[in-house]
Amino acid sequence: MSETVKFTIDGKECQGTKGQLLVDAAADNGVYIPVLCHMRDLIPAGSCRICTVKINGRNMAACTTPVEEGMAIENNSDELTDIRKAIVEMLFVEGNHFCPACEKSGNCDLQALGYKYQMMVPRFPYAFERRDMDATSPKIFLERNRCIFCKRCVRVIKDNEGRSIFAFKGRGTTLQINIDKTLAATMSDELAQKAMDICPVGCILKKEVGFIDPIGQRKYDKKVIGSDIENNHQ
Ligand code: FES
Repeated sequence: MSETVKFTIDGKECQGTKGQLLVDAAADNGVYIPVLCHMRDLIPAGSCRICTVKINGRNMAACTTPVEEGMAIENNSDELTDIRKAIVEMLFVEGNHFCPACEKSGNCDLQALGYKYQMMVPRFPYAFERRDMDATSPKIFLERNRCIFCKRCVRVIKDNEGRSIFAFKGRGTTLQINIDKTLAATMSDELAQKAMDICPVGCILKKEVGFIDPIGQRKYDKKVIGSDIENNHQ
């Protein structure tokens, strides 16, 4: 049987199971910690650092840190808000994000975090990277300008034999997300839709159908990101 552990987040008493990732345990207790690369039940990538919290005076990624008995976690402070805001700004300047022209606008986690942290003008210079798009797959349009390298698609989207349909190629500034043409040709509509849905930005788009949800009726048009977790459990 799994062992229950008690911990606090910003003074709020919480419970979780020993070994549970902090970000999931927090959500189960109605506390929102922002994520971009994390998804529950996936091996954590720990790559975006938007989930940074403070534990015993140290900044830690909540998606790679298991909860422990007696842990005192800081999730809500001006310092953490500024770190998270800086990460959002960094992601915006690293890629080429033209929100008004993006089909995921209103359904995009990065954009929603930009609103949540009231990002105005990024503090970093724009990189204006040149990134090629890839429209060669029958069901997927890969808009690399918007990729934030969260690796969700690589970890989740597999063919019937468990082979990843997406993969990274290169490193550093040449790193890019790629799609395996042969495997992509076998994708069902459902899998293509899933790939689009788990992408936290607008990098993976399903072809043929577009703009199903009208502007104004999309996920984050109605509520601030994370507010569902905060409101459902308190
Ligand atoms: Fe924790 Fe990305 S959500 S590092």
